[in-house]
Amino acid sequence: MELEPIRRRDAAEWSRLRLDNEDWLRPWEPSASQPWDVRHTPAAFRAMRRVLAQRARLGTSLPFAIRVEGRLAGQVTIDNVVRGALRSGYLGYWIDRSVAGRGMASLAVALVCDHAFGEVGLHRVQADIRPENLPSQRLVERLGFRQEGLLRRYLEIDGDWRDHLAYALLAEDLPAGVLARWRERVPR
Ligand SMILES: CC(C)(COP(=O)(O)OP(=O)(O)OC[C@H]1O[C@@H](n2cnc3c(N)ncnc32)[C@H](O)[C@@H]1OP(=O)(O)O)[C@@H](O)C(=O)NCCC(=O)NCCS
Repeated sequence: MELEPIRRRDAAEWSRLRLDNEDWLRPWEPSASQPWDVRHTPAAFRAMRRVLAQRARLGTSLPFAIRVEGRLAGQVTIDNVVRGALRSGYLGYWIDRSVAGRGMASLAVALVCDHAFGEVGLHRVQADIRPENLPSQRLVERLGFRQEGLLRRYLEIDGDWRDHLAYALLAEDLPAGVLARWRERVPR
């Protein structure tokens, strides 16, 4: 598994992956006025990449592509990064259904959190997850995130306002780092 910047030449692969994974991703994605296929053309990818690259340059987003065995397999992003006394960001991720269940998404999240707490200097990474999304809750709980509350009708997802559970991990929660926590799960 590798984490990389999102590259312009990923457009066709990203479009195919997102179209193939519509049923898998749609229940957890923000509502939008345009249909799924229109939002997932190579041109839509290029527009998204431009915005992410601009936000990354400003330091308000940490966007990564997840590659598994050399192929684009998902994304992990810490977005809405705020500095100053808060030093926090919001975690988002998705992975191709065909590589799910192999620990790759949680490894990607672990590496990005260590980067955020280390080089970037964040103190808190937040993850807001629908109560229905058990795989996602399992992923963050295994990495040491703690549930801090319920956010009522918090985000407009898949056509309606949805409750979310607020999870967070603090820099001091795992002194050995998040990757070390992920490694504890590797079968021996
Ligand atoms: C949420 C999501 C990313 C989780 O993906 P995933 O592949 O299940 O997550 P992981 O990569 O951590 O895999 C977990 C499984 O891998 C295995 N695993 C986890 N860590 C491991 C490790 N260190 N070594 C070996 N295996 C490991 C476990 O067997 C675990 O399966 P289990 O929970 O049944 O025991 C995926 O379901 C997804 O993309 N969903 C749609 C989008 C979405 O919900 N995004 C999040 C919105 S909040």
